Amino acid sequence: SWTMLNIVEDSVEAVRRQVGDGRAICALSGGVDSAVAAAIVQRAIGDRLTCVFVDHGLLRKGEAEQVERDFVAATGVKLRVVDASERFLKALEGVSDPEEKRKIIGREFIRVFEDEQRAIMADGPVDFLVQGTLYPDVVESGGGTGTANIKSHHNVGGLPEDLQFTLVEPLRALFKDEVRRAGEELGLPSAMVWRQPFPGPGLGIRIVGEVTRDRLALLREADAIAREELSRAGLDRSIWQCPVVLLADVRSVGVQGDGRTYGHPVVLRPVTSEDAMTADWARVPYDVLSRISTRITNEVREVNRVVLDVTSKPPGTIEWE
Ligand code: XMP
Repeated sequence: SWTMLNIVEDSVEAVRRQVGDGRAICALSGGVDSAVAAAIVQRAIGDRLTCVFVDHGLLRKGEAEQVERDFVAATGVKLRVVDASERFLKALEGVSDPEEKRKIIGREFIRVFEDEQRAIMADGPVDFLVQGTLYPDVVESGGGTGTANIKSHHNVGGLPEDLQFTLVEPLRALFKDEVRRAGEELGLPSAMVWRQPFPGPGLGIRIVGEVTRDRLALLREADAIAREELSRAGLDRSIWQCPVVLLADVRSVGVQGDGRTYGHPVVLRPVTSEDAMTADWARVPYDVLSRISTRITNEVREVNRVVLDVTSKPPGTIEWE
């Protein structure tokens, strides 16, 4: 729209003034906020911005490609990709506790990012760090600690602790829907612009139990089927998000073809929500649930049961971990 075009242009101009002829770096997460922030800064300073994408191996099907291929094609951003999945898996070995997983993923992310930062700074100084901070984040962090955080919501892509950069935050005045419109204005891939909320620690906190490469592979398939069917049914905008959770330490008896199976269940957790603080379980039509269940059990070996989570938040959180 016309006003969104102005907002984007003003924001590009403000970044140009702030950064001058300096250089900036930005961590891309695969989410819309960091993508839009990076695209704005790229417009302002071109290849004096270097983006870093740490692939922790915990993203969903197609998401790494969206960043590496589609986002780069749409924006011309200079991108360094680090395939760090091996390192993350190693660090997560033997770990089942959710908070422990979050800590490890956050810590490894910062280490990898700092290595990249050093490599980039070998070509000359970098003074600016781009962050996709939104207006609600600004208000929340300025509003004291009135609300208890029951999970350590470590945002992968978050701030290294020994911050020696000046922050560039082109989205500080915007709400989520405005960020999405800005993303469209900037021509970003629509799968990124309209992506539903997805936690920074990714599939790592959707495997109840230890995270392994095989478990990730099967969860990724089950999740892709659920997303495809929900989207085909036109439910993308009415459902806030739908975690698919693998109960990796649970097995149940089933029968497939002529044989008895002893496989794992996956949980579908479709919710409606305004802001993720509270949520209700989404009344997804039975025929859609049925298609998801049939396809997952047919197409994903090792999964022989699909169950539906009908808990609101509170008492349940949206994620299982
Ligand atoms: P819960 O499970 O607390 O989730 O009801 C509320 C919203 O936050 C997302 N979430 C996270 N996001 N890092 C993130 O960046 C995290 O560790 C994390 N844990 C939960 C969740 O997907 C939901 O949208």
